[in-house]
Amino acid sequence: MRSHYCGDVNRQHLEQTVQVCGWVHRRRDHGGVIFIDLRDRQGLVQVVFNPDTAEIFAKAESLRSEFVVMISGQVRARPVGSVNPQMATGEIEIIASQLTILNTAQTPPFPLDEFSQVSEDVRLRYRYIDLRRTEINQKLIFRAKVTANIRQYLEAHGFLDIETPVLTRATPEGARDYLVPSRTHQGSFFALPQSPQLFKQLLMVAGFDRYYQVAKCFRDEDLRADRQPEFTQVDMELSFVDEKQLMQIAEGMVRTIFRDLLQTELPDVPVMTYAEAMRLYGSDKPDLRIALQLIDVKDVMRDVSFQVFSTPANSPDGRVAALCVPQGGVKLTRKEIDQYTDFVKPYGAKGLAYIKVNDPALGREGLQSPIIKNLTDEALAAVLTRCGAQAGDLIFFGADQQTIVSAALGALRIRVAQDLGLVENAWRPLWVIDFPMFERAGNGQWTPLHHPFTAPTCSVAELIANPGQALSRAYDLVLNGTELGGGSIRIHDAVMQQTVFDLLNINAEQAQDKFGFLLDAFKFGAPPHGGIAFGLDRLLMLLTGSESIRDVIAFPKTQTAACLMTQAPAKVDAEQLRDLGLRPKVAQVIAE
Ligand code: AMO
Ligand code: AMP
Repeated sequence: MRSHYCGDVNRQHLEQTVQVCGWVHRRRDHGGVIFIDLRDRQGLVQVVFNPDTAEIFAKAESLRSEFVVMISGQVRARPVGSVNPQMATGEIEIIASQLTILNTAQTPPFPLDEFSQVSEDVRLRYRYIDLRRTEINQKLIFRAKVTANIRQYLEAHGFLDIETPVLTRATPEGARDYLVPSRTHQGSFFALPQSPQLFKQLLMVAGFDRYYQVAKCFRDEDLRADRQPEFTQVDMELSFVDEKQLMQIAEGMVRTIFRDLLQTELPDVPVMTYAEAMRLYGSDKPDLRIALQLIDVKDVMRDVSFQVFSTPANSPDGRVAALCVPQGGVKLTRKEIDQYTDFVKPYGAKGLAYIKVNDPALGREGLQSPIIKNLTDEALAAVLTRCGAQAGDLIFFGADQQTIVSAALGALRIRVAQDLGLVENAWRPLWVIDFPMFERAGNGQWTPLHHPFTAPTCSVAELIANPGQALSRAYDLVLNGTELGGGSIRIHDAVMQQTVFDLLNINAEQAQDKFGFLLDAFKFGAPPHGGIAFGLDRLLMLLTGSESIRDVIAFPKTQTAACLMTQAPAKVDAEQLRDLGLRPKVAQVIAE
């Protein structure tokens, strides 16, 4: 029906007759002439209806927003003065000679150019209209280009696109599973995959060597701005590689996306250990656009009379650290400091001590703080020196268990930097490596930091002797404070795998029940292998500068994991439940 997309008509087509199809974006009547901005996925073009073509003109008068039309006409240069440099098609317009109304439209629930006044709920309920907005439309077109770029890169590097099942067994990635009841095996359930982890490892055992998939993953977890219950991973797995090669290939993929689609060269990607990231930034995904670092002062606080500091300073798992806020931090008001104190509380911090530095050269006299009377001259001097404190700085302190101080000051570092405009405008990627194998859960049990298939850097004997100290062969790629992707070299040995299960309190019987197929596979010639998965939605959020992950997903779910447009999840009828061998809760109550 069309000869050109609206948004693609330009000076090259001057004097040509074109045929365009699309939606009426805006109609303006100007001194007997009607102007239409016609819109399709590629953009807008201006169409002019002159009164001398009376029949078409009359039809044009009936056009309303979002009517679907087909228009033929000649392309001509806009008169001087009405050129619109903001528009790709702003130099030309189409003089309509034919108009077909393909469909009418009700008044849309919100005007497309004033969406910002509209609640997100309304936009999600009418997502198909929201998707007509240039801003979102551009993001989805960009998403398609990124996916195409990724496929091209991976295929050029010998990866095979292989699909893995969606109706499957639980894959432990740390979230709750979405379950699907089986009709043919009543009382049994499929789990939707939290990732293709187990299958991709089995593909390595099967010899495919380099696998990738743009895979849907499902996780029933608390949602945040960068999490969806259903999201997409760029998932890959390779055999006969070490972490260095793997990181190089994965980094190359991200670098290529930036180069091809943002025309930007990513800087060299530094590699940092988990321990260093926690020490300097209080986070395993540090935002390196912020220069501020945490400064350890535990060693100089052991003998001070301020017990808030001396107690953790004398405890093996305690931490006392400072965060120096430069550039006039001293100007923070009492109220602002109280707000920061409230900000760190959810991280477990019991308070937020501070020192205002009026003049570091004057030592104690140049400082202002309720706590300095309880600190020794030596401690104060060490704090000032290590922080490189300048007049006008403010130094915050965290003192508690290591995990609490790191989390609290790590979050505070970002918050303060955002508030004071200390976040550099740049791309700052990094690799984080040498994660601990395990951490202690609330009940004192070991849980894996990555997943239980990740290989340790040590032997079976060393792992058993000291699980808390063991490091894993895992790596995360972090960009501007967001974890873009994570992966690891895997265990490919049945004994090591069973040892890890044992430490995680998964006994041989349970392991056989849950992952017997993987353990069996390891007995039949499993190659050394490893992989990584990137969160495609998160990557797109960053690339497009979106505030919410929902902006880069065509049909996203809300924070409560619902789709406002289809009203999913929805109730089902009793018959359907019966077929599945399930009883509705209400019926159950009545039956009992
Ligand atoms: P992991 O659990 O770290 O690793 O997930 C990999 C990446 O997926 C993204 N991601 C999410 N994105 C949106 N919404 C979510 N709910 C969500 N959860 C995770 C993140 C994350 O970095 N199988 C392993 C990978 C491997 O070892 O190869 C895995 O799934 O960007
Ligand atoms: P207090 O002695 O409890 O009145 O606290 C004195 C100062 O230390 C206040 O500014 C508190 O906010 C701060 N503070 C209390 N507990 C901690 C802590 N665990 N870490 C850092 N500062 C703290």
